[in-house]
Amino acid sequence: MMPCPFHPKPYKNKASTLLTFLLKRRSWLDGLYERSYKMQMGRVKMPNFDLYVVNDPKEVRRIMVDEVRDFPKSELLHRLLSPLLGESIFTTNGRVWEKQRELLRPSFEMTRISKVFDLMSDAVQDLMQKFEKYPDKSIIEVDEYMTFVTADVIFRTIMSAKLDEIKGREVLEAFVSVQEETVKTAMRKMFRFPEWLSYILGERKRLKSAALIRQVLSDIIKPRYDAVSNGKHEGYSDILSSLLEVIDADTNERFSFEEILDQVAMLFLAGHETTASSLTWTLYLLSLFPEHQEKAYEEIIQIAGQEKFKIQDLKNFKYLTCIFKESLRLYPPVGFFAREAKKETKIRDKIVAQGSGVVVAPWLIHRHEQFWKNPNGFDPTRHGDKNNIKKDTYMPFGMGERICIGQGFAMQEAILILANILRAYKLELEESFVPDIIGRLTIRSANGMRIKFTKRKSQ
Ligand code: HEM
Repeated sequence: MMPCPFHPKPYKNKASTLLTFLLKRRSWLDGLYERSYKMQMGRVKMPNFDLYVVNDPKEVRRIMVDEVRDFPKSELLHRLLSPLLGESIFTTNGRVWEKQRELLRPSFEMTRISKVFDLMSDAVQDLMQKFEKYPDKSIIEVDEYMTFVTADVIFRTIMSAKLDEIKGREVLEAFVSVQEETVKTAMRKMFRFPEWLSYILGERKRLKSAALIRQVLSDIIKPRYDAVSNGKHEGYSDILSSLLEVIDADTNERFSFEEILDQVAMLFLAGHETTASSLTWTLYLLSLFPEHQEKAYEEIIQIAGQEKFKIQDLKNFKYLTCIFKESLRLYPPVGFFAREAKKETKIRDKIVAQGSGVVVAPWLIHRHEQFWKNPNGFDPTRHGDKNNIKKDTYMPFGMGERICIGQGFAMQEAILILANILRAYKLELEESFVPDIIGRLTIRSANGMRIKFTKRKSQ
């Protein structure tokens, strides 16, 4: 019998408000119940406000595309992330967001991304060298490595800086702390805890971690910002160099240091956490399904043999791409999109008051019983033909104008990393290992991912 990839078993019935608080403090996935995966829309009553969870694809399109300006990004999320991200594109709205999107757009066009391919490849080669040091058939904790390599890719492609081991670990630990505390702070805010209590319970730790990350980034960016301000010509071809050159259309001036720092901090968060999550879950699925792993391996050998991967190869790894897309369906790194109703509106048959929270959750929609055959099963062939997928039910990178700007970057990076690992090693899950899935800002495995690496003969 085919194994079923792990998913948390939902509760039969909706939990009480107190239980919801206790469960969701650790992971919002723990608060879901059976109806969440069957309903078109649900309402969660919070002491502070109402929250609507929308699964109906027609309404999802309305919120994310057709009436996107009436459902801006949540102010609560913006406030929660501001100690780390400041005024960053991920959470801003309106004109501020438009300008930031314009600022980042040139850096993420496909031609620009192909220019950073070599910088990406260097980081992946360092990763492969670390794996080579292990004796054959070692169990490797891959989640740590995926987090490190994706952070390293961001450092190199954005700032031409290699992530050093010690500083890197410090920054990544600070990120985990920001993530954990952000979910807890959100729950405390929704349940109306007084500010002073929230501060004692974890806010202080969160602010300290956010400041540490910003300092590390600032130390790299500031000298370069100052050099460009003093008219020096930079010799870099990374993403920061294009950010330093862009002129603000409203003021006709370059962006300020703080504005650039906010965007880089956000790119670091949005760019490494998500990709790391997607890679760990894909390695998990490949280990669990050896026949799919073999097919992907054969495709890689047929197209690239043992040659160094070229950017064109990645586009030809069609089966591997289907596997990755199916992994993004089962474990979408961004499990929910938080919006709010700008004015009173009707969604399906419910009157939604102005200021209510509106949530679109790919985690639920991607596993919805009515939209998918065998929703919890792993089947990469679903992605072979677009017509197999019901309209507006697959959205790992979001939808509409707020769609992920780094989608092309992430696909290039993920396929490159996966192809390198699969060509060199056969992967098997450690016997009896079960991931402890948790939903924070991204969907991760709290106990990591323990995979046995067996060297392929051709090495
Ligand atoms: C597998 C990897 C990734 C996934 C699954 C992912 C997913 C997403 C999703 C779902 C959104 C929209 C969230 C919403 O609508 O609330 C988003 C936005 C964004 N992502 Fe990604 N992302 C990934 C990688 C990256 C990378 C590598 C970068 C940059 C280096 C990046 C930069 C951004 C930015 C800047 C936004 C905000 C766009 C805006 O609001 O205009 N992402 N991402």
